Amino acid sequence: MSDSREQRKARRERKERAYKRKRRRLLGLLILIVILLAAALIVVNLVQGHLEKVHRASVESFLEIDDEIQAGMAGGIVKILNVPARDELKTVTDENGETVLEHPEDLWVLVNKEFHLPSNYEPADLVQVSVPFAPGRSLDVQRMRPVASDALTQMFDAAKEEQGYELYAASGYRSYDVQKVLFNQNVARFGSEESANYLSARAGQSEHQTGLAMDLTVPSLNYQLKYDFESTPEGQWVAENSWRFGFIVRYKKDKTAFTGYSFEPWHVRYVGTDLAKYLNENDLTLEEYYGFSAKYSDHGAELIPDNQSYE
Ligand code: DAL
Ligand code: ZN
Repeated sequence: MSDSREQRKARRERKERAYKRKRRRLLGLLILIVILLAAALIVVNLVQGHLEKVHRASVESFLEIDDEIQAGMAGGIVKILNVPARDELKTVTDENGETVLEHPEDLWVLVNKEFHLPSNYEPADLVQVSVPFAPGRSLDVQRMRPVASDALTQMFDAAKEEQGYELYAASGYRSYDVQKVLFNQNVARFGSEESANYLSARAGQSEHQTGLAMDLTVPSLNYQLKYDFESTPEGQWVAENSWRFGFIVRYKKDKTAFTGYSFEPWHVRYVGTDLAKYLNENDLTLEEYYGFSAKYSDHGAELIPDNQSYE
């Protein structure tokens, strides 16, 4: 009996020891799980913090870019590299009380019925352009600013090398006074100032006074400036390729409401290669680039002379 009591006692003690061992193991396991959970929480927090930082940085840089776009939009079209926005077209009041462009020498300058050149503005760096000129053109109008003159020479060379086309220049720089005489002749010829002004700029409003514009022609048009230039192979080549040399065909047929002038397939204006490429790719006039709307009525279309030459 006593044996069996001792045996029972020994069994109970064994059971208790086994139970305690189990409890210790369970506790150990629990502690391990708690440690692992804590470690996992720390890792998750760290990752979350890092992701938030990355997100914040990207939102900030997006907002910065957005600010730039907003600033560009305020000035017309989004400002692109090396090309100015509308707020860079500054005007001042001259001694006669006229509002005129402050920087007429800028290559991207907008000269039209609204933005005028000072009457005494003459580019300081005019040079004789070495391309063939239509017969009878005076040396005075065979001038341009050097950057435009070089680009025109390259364009004439390319037309010849690539296609065998012989382009001729007709009229480049025209002073304020020369433009005044020309406009008055056009008033007499077309019957009224309104009619003349659809084809010809008033003094101070012509791109020719910037030394950056040139009128082009070909022998097949008898060296005249006519709408037919559009359908000559040379005129088509100019329409398609002048942007490569930094020129735009300034007065397009479907853009008269923006420019305020009749179609002139012969009049190219140097604006630099960046802007010329951009305007060509987006089919924009300078007016549209600077954010101006189509404000000129098309009534003048009826006044287009019957394919007569004018400039
Ligand atoms: N024919 C263009 C508009 C000028 O006179 O400048
Ligand atoms: Zn012209």
